[in-house]
Amino acid sequence: MKRRRVLFVDHTAVMGGGELSLLDIATAYRETSQVLLFTDGPFRERLEAAGVSVKVAPAPEVALTMRASGELSALKVLPALWWMACQVAEAGRGFELVHANSQKALIASALATLMGGPPVVWHLRDILTAGHFSRLNRRIAVSLANTRTALVLVNSRATGEAFVAAGGRRKLVSLLYNGFSSDAFDHLAPEKPAEIRTELGINDAPLVGVFSRISYWKGQHVLLEALRELPEVHALFVGEALFGEVEYTSHIKALASTPELEGRVHWLGFRSDVPALMAACNIVAHTSTEPEPFGRVIVEGQLAQRPVVASATGGPAELIQDGVTGSLVPPNDPVALAKTIRELLADPSATAALAERGRTQARTNFSLETLLAALDKALQQV
Ligand code: UDP
Ligand code: GLC
Repeated sequence: MKRRRVLFVDHTAVMGGGELSLLDIATAYRETSQVLLFTDGPFRERLEAAGVSVKVAPAPEVALTMRASGELSALKVLPALWWMACQVAEAGRGFELVHANSQKALIASALATLMGGPPVVWHLRDILTAGHFSRLNRRIAVSLANTRTALVLVNSRATGEAFVAAGGRRKLVSLLYNGFSSDAFDHLAPEKPAEIRTELGINDAPLVGVFSRISYWKGQHVLLEALRELPEVHALFVGEALFGEVEYTSHIKALASTPELEGRVHWLGFRSDVPALMAACNIVAHTSTEPEPFGRVIVEGQLAQRPVVASATGGPAELIQDGVTGSLVPPNDPVALAKTIRELLADPSATAALAERGRTQARTNFSLETLLAALDKALQQV
């Protein structure tokens, strides 16, 4: 089957979950497709290294920095958005479809249809609730989706329900979970986890890892607070603040340097060897305080055959069957998180069985092949 000719559009070039997912998709579509980015950065390099053709059209700063959670001042950004729409219309010539991978990409791509741009598929990876987005922002995104897109791919049922609750047309929605290649998890050098532990200087101490970018709603503080009740346990934080969360970063660094926690918290910044780092942990924790749309780190923790404990809201509740393929805890509840960590550490054989079931489920339900087959089928129908 010949894949559709798609122009993939994304506003950012930092490596967030949406970009890692698009990297796999665009790689599979590289014979027929191209990626248009509104800024240059590591994502462009990763795409090109994978043989994907990329075009960068640097957009005016004002359009890239408008905050999704704030009331965007439409008048100020309109000329910049219009310019971005012109770029999509222009680059879209010769492609059958535009795939908008972010909300800013959606706005530009939807406006481009007014200039003869190709039909738009919005890959919605966000939960459109007040906790994440302002009312005006939700209204603009939903109206454009309802009137100017052919299809809205949602990364979980929770994402789809939030879209509908915000006024989105249910008929447009199609569920497309993230999919993963398990190669990097399956072919790790066996000595790697021990090497990482030696580098961290922690030997056999229990280690709980969080692999999210540093951001208030990703809830790194929840694990830090839980750690107060777990005096033997160390925490590993992998990821950096991708969107300038300076205050939150200094807040959690200060928390971690209190005497109770000192020496037990390890910060690694952004890393490209997540599978090896997960394998060095006893537990992978996902601590989001707001509903997580999907949560790639959860499936990755399962593929690494680690017990995953996640906040029971949004996508994670679709990825984990509590007590069977992982553990779910109420969001923003350090006491519940500490209790679950303690229980998981106390019963190694039950925990290993949980991790094994999680791995089987991740391999079966969230493979890259499953994602690509579902995407091919959905795009054929547009
Ligand atoms: N990740 C990474 N390096 C890091 C931290 C995270 O490559 O240092 C990856 C992680 O493995 C996952 C993605 O970033 O694939 C985060 O995606 P997720 O869906 O969990 O959250 P998002 O940041 O997209 O909201
Ligand atoms: C977004 C969401 C995250 C999801 C990712 C990939 O970044 O915040 O939950 O896993 O997209 O779809």
